[in-house]
Amino acid sequence: MMSSQFDALAQLYEDFSALPFRQHLEFPTVLGAVGTVNAERKVLDLGCGSGVYSRMLAGRGAFAVTGLDESAGMIGYARRREEAERLGIRYVAGPLPAELHGTFDLVLAVYVLPYASSYPELVDLFRTAAGALRTGGELVTLPIHPDLPADPDYYSRYGFRLNPLHGREDGGEVDLHILSGSYDTHVTAHYWSAPTLEKALAETGFGPSQWHRHRLSDAAAAGPDTFWRPYLDAPHAGLLTAKQLTGRS
Ligand SMILES: C[S@@+](CC[C@H](N)C(=O)[O-])C[C@H]1O[C@@H](n2cnc3c(N)ncnc32)[C@H](O)[C@@H]1O
Repeated sequence: MMSSQFDALAQLYEDFSALPFRQHLEFPTVLGAVGTVNAERKVLDLGCGSGVYSRMLAGRGAFAVTGLDESAGMIGYARRREEAERLGIRYVAGPLPAELHGTFDLVLAVYVLPYASSYPELVDLFRTAAGALRTGGELVTLPIHPDLPADPDYYSRYGFRLNPLHGREDGGEVDLHILSGSYDTHVTAHYWSAPTLEKALAETGFGPSQWHRHRLSDAAAAGPDTFWRPYLDAPHAGLLTAKQLTGRS
């Protein structure tokens, strides 16, 4: 397993998942794109981290959820939760075992593409997703939004700052500064433009991709939208989906 900046961040990502923008914007948006999960839909949570989405999908009835991550600290945390909660999730550390290739209906990869620091790493991530999917299977992923605002404080009200240190240059570092509760933590991410993401998808056997708009939870939509409007106008992460065209059927 690789050592990574994420090894000590499992609890932070658990706590980060309680932030209102994740609860009321990101989760409804991602779960809406994932659609129905049931006893027939096999799901791979690629870059599962502490298992936030793996647990959510297993709780909604997804069949045989597998979480995959390269960080020992993240996967260790996810496995300890699974031992305590017994949701039936399998966690894999490192590369996907060959026997699982071509077996998934859905690959979910939330906040994983920003950690590809070079184009070959980006292609590798898409290749992992493509190799995991059966033909026609779907990738749902959340890169940094291609239209990311330049102002690092644009998202301060949501509990984090995002500073694109090289503007909108492909692969350029973006400093994610989590400033919420007792956290004051920096994580290094990378920006990828829409044409580059779409090129890497096409190279790895995916069909045309689609970008989707964020949606608010019913509870948030019932209230005033002044808090949510800046995020809805310029989300920090874009929701991108694409179908695998060339794998096993
Ligand atoms: C920001 S965390 C997101 C975790 C989780 N998806 C969530 O939404 O809470 C990114 C995760 O992606 C993992 N990751 C990055 N590149 C990876 C790769 N090539 N293979 C497997 N995991 C990877 C990291 O180890 C980290 O746990």
